[in-house]
Amino acid sequence: MGRLDGKVIVVTGGGRGFGRAYCLRFAAEGATVAIAEMDEETGKSTQAEIVANGGRAFAYPLDVRDEDSVTAMRDAVDRDLGGIDGLMNNAGILPPMALPDITKEFWDNVYNTNVWGSFITARAVSHSMRRRGGGAIVNIASSTFFNPSPGSAAYISSKGSVIALSRVLASGLAPYDIRVNFIYPGLTATPGVMEGRFTSDDYFDSRVHKQLIKRRSEIEDVVGAGVFLLSDESAFMTGQGIPVNGGIGMI
Ligand SMILES: NC(=O)c1ccc[n+]([C@@H]2O[C@H](COP(=O)([O-])OP(=O)(O)OC[C@H]3O[C@@H](n4cnc5c(N)ncnc54)[C@H](O)[C@@H]3O)[C@@H](O)[C@H]2O)c1
Repeated sequence: MGRLDGKVIVVTGGGRGFGRAYCLRFAAEGATVAIAEMDEETGKSTQAEIVANGGRAFAYPLDVRDEDSVTAMRDAVDRDLGGIDGLMNNAGILPPMALPDITKEFWDNVYNTNVWGSFITARAVSHSMRRRGGGAIVNIASSTFFNPSPGSAAYISSKGSVIALSRVLASGLAPYDIRVNFIYPGLTATPGVMEGRFTSDDYFDSRVHKQLIKRRSEIEDVVGAGVFLLSDESAFMTGQGIPVNGGIGMI
């Protein structure tokens, strides 16, 4: 028996990186996975991979910055799959930019995706969960909030906002039996990170140096926390964060 048997779980940004890994594992744990992704091609390829492994998955187009797109995704999942039990609110962007070069346009794009996008997706999906009698939402923050590195002011402060958002959503949605928690991963070589500027061995090693566990984070390291927070095993947890970061900052 899977730990997510019978649950319908939406994963935003499920086409690649952490999102893809969540989708594969949630399906292996018995969930029906709705892969909600801006890049149609990668969304469909995650879906095909799950179906080839004998799992249940469906791909939906989504731009988390756009309210109409978010509502259309939620309505389509409700129509096709009968409702939503879990949301892995994972879609996000991690563009680095040196502090003095940050423009308003750059800042707004990071916040529109990471903060506004997380909020409107949680808000839309919460209506579906309320009809179902409850649910679980997991937001994705970042260890950089607690152990900042220079060069990502917009990103790191947006992830601080995701933590605040998780706590206020937890309090606002508790009356409807909807739990809201968050994960804060450490630096991991996902496609999104590897497209940025901080990809040198020296940079990765400098993060490992600050960790208790002396190895780099792998994409699969985060999925166990996701399964736990979306399963009934965490039924008495809300408003909390799980660090998956090798114990960074403890030395
Ligand atoms: N990789 C890390 O080191 C790290 C560390 C901490 C937190 N995170 C967070 O994990 C999450 C996933 O990041 P990743 O590293 O896997 O990145 P990634 O770029 O590899 O994957 C992100 C996915 O989100 C999708 N996406 C981006 N904007 C979208 C939008 N507007 N609407 C819908 N989908 C959109 C992309 O198409 C992509 O498939 C992000 O929230 C990121 O901030 C990553």
